[in-house]
Amino acid sequence: MTVRIARAPGRVNLIGDHTDYTGGLVFPMAVDRWTDIRFEPDDRIELTSADEPDPVSLPRHVDDPTTVTPAWGKYVAGVVSEMSPATGLRGHVTTTIPIGGGMSSSHALEVAVALALGFDGSVVELAQLTQRAENRASGVPTGIMDQFSIAGGVAGHALLMDCGALTITPVPVPAEVDVVVQFIAHRTLVGSAYADRVAECAAAEALIGPLREASSAVASSIDDPVVRKRAMHVVAENQRVRDFADALRADDLDGAGDLMLASHASLRDLYDTSTPQMDASVAHVASLPGVYGVRMTGGGFGGCIVALTRPGALTDGWKVTAVDGAALVDPDGIDGPARGGGS
Ligand code: GLA
Repeated sequence: MTVRIARAPGRVNLIGDHTDYTGGLVFPMAVDRWTDIRFEPDDRIELTSADEPDPVSLPRHVDDPTTVTPAWGKYVAGVVSEMSPATGLRGHVTTTIPIGGGMSSSHALEVAVALALGFDGSVVELAQLTQRAENRASGVPTGIMDQFSIAGGVAGHALLMDCGALTITPVPVPAEVDVVVQFIAHRTLVGSAYADRVAECAAAEALIGPLREASSAVASSIDDPVVRKRAMHVVAENQRVRDFADALRADDLDGAGDLMLASHASLRDLYDTSTPQMDASVAHVASLPGVYGVRMTGGGFGGCIVALTRPGALTDGWKVTAVDGAALVDPDGIDGPARGGGS
């Protein structure tokens, strides 16, 4: 029986947080840490993991992924419930993505499971399916950024992603910078204020229309102080993403770094998704020689910070490079991806 490998990278977001669920702009990249599922066809879905004591065993039809145990099986079950695949699989999961480390290990697992179960569609469809799977499995109304960047990564490039139009414009990461991720604290978005932020943005949109089209002047005219702060963050963050992409294209690394610092300040002061520990780490890293910019990245309330630095300037953390998106790969030549899913 043929053994295959479904491989999905982690991701880090350089700038543009809490903009995806209002159809805004984000700027992530798929990074050189991967989740692999080595599998062969089976009637059911039978998965073991190098990092989990208990296996996952599921039928090919799942109604409610939230009831599945062990906990990591919920992500698998979310994908199965979306796909009801004609063929199951028997396989083993390994990963070099730090689990729970803020680089989307669970989203990579979802995308790898979908490919292993025979998903056949575009990058956008793969991202949409695995986003639905995640939302159903976790009960958290997360946006599409994570799955879209994992599915649509381009080696050597960060991804200017429009989460409304669902388009990706790859922008080269300059050769003379390091991207370094530092893990700060474990967090889960389940039970966090993430869902509150989504609701606050919906409240802002009920007042002033789509945030992706709103001006700063209109956002700052909202009466409710909390809703106003959220809207002001989103509108300015969308603009920072555009400016950051322009700065990278112009090799203006100081300018790009300043935008990262402004983004962090906005997430701290207007969006309230940072923590004192993350603020202290950002302030420390920002003060080091050779650091262009640094900010919290992702959902917040813990997780990671990301820095843009001169090569070798920051040795404490995970140095990451931009890689291609998820694919089925040949077990005999793991470096020769045969792209699954088209684009
Ligand atoms: C989490 C979500 C994403 C996005 C970020 C914040 O990572 O999964 O959809 O909303 O938070 O930018």
